[in-house]
Order: sequence, then C-alpha cells, then structure tokens
Amino acid sequence: MSGTGSYKIMKIIRVTADFIVSTVKRWFSLILPYQSMRGGRELLDAQYKAGIWDYLADVTELSRFSVIVGYCHHYKEGGKILEIGCGEGLLQERLCPTKYSRFVGVDISEEAILRASHKQNDRVRFVREDASTFQSDEKFDVIVFNECLEYFDDPVALVRRYENFLEKDGLFIVSMFVGVDTVRNKRIWKALDSEYTTEAETKVSTNRQLTWIIKVLSVIS
Ligand SMILES: C[S@@+](CC[C@H](N)C(=O)[O-])C[C@H]1O[C@@H](n2cnc3c(N)ncnc32)[C@H](O)[C@@H]1O
Repeated sequence: MSGTGSYKIMKIIRVTADFIVSTVKRWFSLILPYQSMRGGRELLDAQYKAGIWDYLADVTELSRFSVIVGYCHHYKEGGKILEIGCGEGLLQERLCPTKYSRFVGVDISEEAILRASHKQNDRVRFVREDASTFQSDEKFDVIVFNECLEYFDDPVALVRRYENFLEKDGLFIVSMFVGVDTVRNKRIWKALDSEYTTEAETKVSTNRQLTWIIKVLSVIS
C-alpha cells in the first residue's frame, strides 16, 4: 500500500476512534451520577493567584456578559442585583451605573474578592463567602449565577435556596457554557426547566467556537 493510502486509513481510524470515545463519554455522563467541577477555596484561590481566570476579562467572554447585562437592565432597571460566584466583579464593571440601585457579589475565593474590593462603594459590596451558606437580610430583584452552578453538587438545590433572597416577582439569570464535555450542564438545564419558568433565553457563540446559554427564570407561583 502507498504511503498516502496508509495515511488516509490511519486518519479514518483516528477520526472513528475519537467519535467512539466522545460518544461513550457522552453516554456515561448521562447515566453516571452528577459530578460537580473541582472547586474548593484553596484551589480557586491558587487559580486566581496564578492568573488562570484572567481570560474571563477577555473580549472572547464579552458576549455572555453583555446578554446578562441586557437582561438585568431590561427586566429590572434600577433593581437590586446579587451575583453568586462573582469572581473579580467583571459583571458589575459591565453594568450601567445608573441602571441598578444595589449590587452584592459573593465568591468563595479570597483572591477574587480582594481584586473586586476596590470597586466597592455605598451601593456595591463584595463578600467572600461560600454560596452554600451565604446569608442576607436583603432581598434582590435579580440573582445571577454566571458560570458557577457547575461547581455545586446539587445546583438546583442551590438555586432553590436563593428563592429566599428573591423579591416578589424577582428573577434568576443563569449562564452556562456549552461544550462536548458539558453534558452535565444539559442535565442542570433540564432540572432547572422543570422547576422554573423560562422568561427569556439566548444562545451566544463566538468565532472561537465558545458557546453559552443564558436564561432568565422566574419562580412558578
Ligand atoms: C468560572 S468562574 C466565573 C466567574 C464569573 N462569574 C465570570 O463569569 O467570569 C466560577 C466562579 O465561581 C466561584 N465559586 C466556585 N464555588 C463557589 C462557592 N461554593 N461559593 C461561591 N463562589 C464559588 C469561583 O471562585 C469562581 O470565581
């Protein structure tokens, strides 16, 4: 057999093997128990210190932030916003200052909150706290889970917990990445869809083939 012929056969074998592996991975992730992303305070702190999350401020991530900002301003202009897993406060930076009355960001990483802290003022506060145990006397018009539900063993229970901090007619905004290895995110959406009403939904993709789904959810009364 010629060199070109065996190269073609090798390529076909490799593509077929990749397809089988990704199909098996998808199948397993559908039937195995939900696995949350690796997190934990120390690991996340180390990642922030090492600059691993710095890319979140890049233009490649801007589209999902822009959709969330648009939804906050459209549905609850002048409202009070709580962001869970706020990182270094990029969402707050992208909000129009005249279009919200209060912003509270919660993140488990001390380093992320340290970076966000210089943005604090009488309307803006950042708190280092585990979202599973965070408490608040305040209620909010919008509660945002921006690329963070994946970290929790029971993401729907977490969202349900935050119903206690939602004003009457308040809304949740959830953003989650879509990719080959994020089949579990589909399961999170499925569970959320059965608990909440979807008021709006957007799928954004960049030319680097990054895709996110962002939904506005209301509590079924
Ligand atoms: C992928 S980053 C997203 C950061 C930011 N929301 C954004 O969209 O750029 C996930 C964030 O969730 C935070 N996080 C993970 N587990 C958490 C927990 N148990 N409580 C609060 N924040 C948590 C991480 O520290 C990290 O900042």
